[in-house]
Amino acid sequence: MTDSEKRIEAQQREQPDPYEGNHPIPRFILVIVALVFSWGIYYLATSNLKDPPEMGDSRTIADLTAQTGAKTGVVNGAQIYAAQCVACHQASGTGLPGVFPPLAASEWVAGKASVIAQILLHGISGSLTVKGVVYNGQMPAFKDKLNDAEIGAVLTHIRSNFGNAAGKVDAALVKTEREASKDRKQSWNGDDELGKLK
Ligand code: HEC
Repeated sequence: MTDSEKRIEAQQREQPDPYEGNHPIPRFILVIVALVFSWGIYYLATSNLKDPPEMGDSRTIADLTAQTGAKTGVVNGAQIYAAQCVACHQASGTGLPGVFPPLAASEWVAGKASVIAQILLHGISGSLTVKGVVYNGQMPAFKDKLNDAEIGAVLTHIRSNFGNAAGKVDAALVKTEREASKDRKQSWNGDDELGKLK
């Protein structure tokens, strides 16, 4: 085979150059797009934001606020515990030895509801004895962070978990305690003050 014959053979093996054919978008796709588009315009034009949503998931503003408890006072103590207390008292309520006292089997948690309500409202500084061990840390005040229902819910949660079995604390009790101590600016001074309330 000569050189030129080889070249001709190589050229014949090549594929032809590609070119764009005439393939229009199928008509039924165009029809579907047009229908969806006009339905969208119709939906936007006719929906009234003030009405409860008949389409969509039908939840109303009232349903949503009920879930967060903002209006109804139905609050989740476990959730508040996880958000506000877990860092120090730990998920198991055992605290950290020598640093954060346990809530599990604590005589304070099982004790008078009014006293732990005061502890949550104003916090503690100075030394506090829990289960025979003296702690000397700072328990933050929650009076400006949590409302009465929330304090009640988290107290009820700690009193009925971690092996504790003390009674419910309702918002009304927290409200009374908040009123009674509304002039207080400082946290409770550990055993010195709280010991007397016990
Ligand atoms: C920044 C860490 C911290 C956070 C957050 C905290 N605590 Fe405390 N808590 C303490 C310390 C420290 C003490 C002991 C105070 C002392 O040593 O004077 C204490 C004491 C207590 C006591 C009385 C003693 C006992 O162990 O029974 C209770 C009840 C309590 N905390 C509940 C709570 C609850 C409920 C929350 C969440 C709403 C919370 N604490 C958030 C650090 C914290």
